[in-house]
Amino acid sequence: MTILPSILAADLGRLADEIRRAADAGADELHVDVMDGAFVPNLSFGPDAVALAARVAPGLPRNVHLMLRRPDLLLDAFAKAGASTIQIHAEASCAVGDALRRIRDLGCRAGLVLNPRTPASAAAPYLGAGLVDEILCMTVYPGFGGQAFMDAPLATLRALRAAAPDLRLMVDGGVTRATLPRAAAAGADAFVAGSALFRAPDMAAEIAAFRALYRDARGL
Ligand code: DX5
Ligand code: ZN
Repeated sequence: MTILPSILAADLGRLADEIRRAADAGADELHVDVMDGAFVPNLSFGPDAVALAARVAPGLPRNVHLMLRRPDLLLDAFAKAGASTIQIHAEASCAVGDALRRIRDLGCRAGLVLNPRTPASAAAPYLGAGLVDEILCMTVYPGFGGQAFMDAPLATLRALRAAAPDLRLMVDGGVTRATLPRAAAAGADAFVAGSALFRAPDMAAEIAAFRALYRDARGL
């Protein structure tokens, strides 16, 4: 399983320390949420935050979630800044297949993101063409941290898991000790969490609890 703290919930006044804290707590990757104020009604980080993470915690891969209408315009900038994986939304206003190919050409893993009400069938053409290394199912409407986990995407997860038994399937939004087992039972094996990890009294203990809950949910 993979655990990815989202720096959207970090203390931005101490961002470098917060990134190191995630690495020291045993995170597998760092999730960087990028927003354009148009695809979602909020603004957040740009390539400089990815470059900062690459500098202060080089061993922690950067999982970059682009909530952009035109992610195709910024792929080169994020790859250059040190993104390990670049995720784009199926709902973006660009040629999604071409953008996924470009992400791999830039040397990054390619991720596809589905909004909560987007059906699994939206991923089929890209999966069928072998263009995706992971799929992220949003369990909140993207734009803000701290929202409540939605159960509707669990059906999408189950359908994707049946179609792609070995693919990395991620959830993002409202992931906590209470909701992680439901996502794991539906087939998720990668978990983004902002508030639940950065606001926990002890991030390492919270990550350990997530791992134990995952093993229980999967009968491992
Ligand atoms: C929401 C972002 C999430 C967010 C999750 O648009 O994609 O990554 O940081 O935050 P929590 O875990 O607090 O719901
Ligand atoms: Zn995200």
